[in-house]
Amino acid sequence: MYNYCGELCVINHYIIKTFLKNNNIALDCTLGNGHDTDFLKDNFKEIYSFDIQKCAVDAYKDKNYENVNVILDSHSNIDKYLNKNIDCAMYNLGFLPGGNKEITTLGETSLESIKKALELLNEGGLITIALYSGHDEGKKEKDLLYNFFETLPKNKYGVMEHKYMNRSENAPSLIVIEKKI
Ligand SMILES: C[S@@+](CC[C@H](N)C(=O)[O-])C[C@H]1O[C@@H](n2cnc3c(N)ncnc32)[C@H](O)[C@@H]1O
Repeated sequence: MYNYCGELCVINHYIIKTFLKNNNIALDCTLGNGHDTDFLKDNFKEIYSFDIQKCAVDAYKDKNYENVNVILDSHSNIDKYLNKNIDCAMYNLGFLPGGNKEITTLGETSLESIKKALELLNEGGLITIALYSGHDEGKKEKDLLYNFFETLPKNKYGVMEHKYMNRSENAPSLIVIEKKI
């Protein structure tokens, strides 16, 4: 068992909890089975969680949490639901574990969404993106997003990658984007 080099989602939650100073509004841009929204709802005042799969949205709506807005729509439409700034956005890209592997995030829509989230992000805010390149769409998505991340101006954004160096090159990786104060 590893305390640090185990699950990227544990590191992801730790980074948000430790380094984010304001905890008002957060987005979960890929609700899925709701583990990230569960984390966000305990740590932020107001959450907006998106998924294109009705089963994921209905399952989470049944939990009836007062501070979580569950939205059946693509994360590329976040601007239709929010006109306020956010402190955090989480993306856990790929397909729903245990679900239909044909329904997966797509590079173009993920990129569109991340660009919109960056516009809404407060100074000091964080966007985290967990990527899986073990399938064809995931590989394309990773290439597209990494090309974009490399273009973000360093005087405005810090961008860091967490990856396993001694696992397959398709092992998941975690990107953290921080907007400079
Ligand atoms: C890896 S899962 C997310 C896991 C989730 N964060 C959790 O804690 O269980 C990816 C999810 O993204 C969803 N998804 C795919 N395309 C999407 C889109 N354009 N907008 C929002 N969600 C999308 C899928 O339906 C799937 O449920």
